[in-house]
Amino acid sequence: MKPPLRSSDTIRTERLELVPLADSLELLVEGKRVEAERELGVLLPRWWPDRHDLGFLAFRARQLAAEPDDRDWMPWLVVLGDERVMIGHAGFHGRPGKNARNDPDAVELGYMILVAQRGRGYATEVVDALVKWAADVHGIRRFVASIGPENAPSLALVRKLGFVDVGRHWDDQDGEELEFLLEL
Ligand SMILES: CC(C)(COP(=O)(O)OP(=O)(O)OC[C@H]1O[C@@H](n2cnc3c(N)ncnc32)[C@H](O)[C@@H]1OP(=O)(O)O)[C@@H](O)C(=O)NCCC(=O)NCCS
Repeated sequence: MKPPLRSSDTIRTERLELVPLADSLELLVEGKRVEAERELGVLLPRWWPDRHDLGFLAFRARQLAAEPDDRDWMPWLVVLGDERVMIGHAGFHGRPGKNARNDPDAVELGYMILVAQRGRGYATEVVDALVKWAADVHGIRRFVASIGPENAPSLALVRKLGFVDVGRHWDDQDGEELEFLLEL
């Protein structure tokens, strides 16, 4: 039997690699992009992280500093396998329990693919791989996704993977969001 993937491992899919960002969060937050590229072994777009993602990375870096055991739930870079260029990032909002439904056993997914790379099935491949990883490595059986009602690609993606619409909430940053749940 194959040993399970560990947290520090890259997750490989048919076309992509998910490279853990935990060890490079500080470098990116400090603007040390070249060092981060070297450490990750990945080419980053010249403009990334932009303001929005810099805030996101800083938030996750603070979260990791406060809860070092949460390494497994830090984001991954989505990398095109052959070229080793970043085409997005994805991961979980945090450890089990950190999700819009306050379900103690569920994890919530987040994902972003760069505009130029959308519409090729990459996000579907990524989310499917993350679900399998969390199930295999951590025994997670419930997955949450919060999606704006206008976000057609993301709605199509989760429905395709078997998530069902279970509620809605108001997010101060993102407005109204539909709550989706996948139960394995
Ligand atoms: C949501 C997002 C990650 C999708 O990335 P992607 O790699 O283009 O997604 P996929 O190619 O796997 O496509 C997912 C589905 O959306 C559908 N889709 C793509 N663009 C669409 C559009 N404009 N309208 C309706 N459906 C669309 C695709 O057809 C596909 O469904 P199908 O396989 O049944 O045809 C990407 O749009 C993104 O990064 N958006 C900004 C960040 C974001 O919204 N993240 C999700 C937060 S909940």
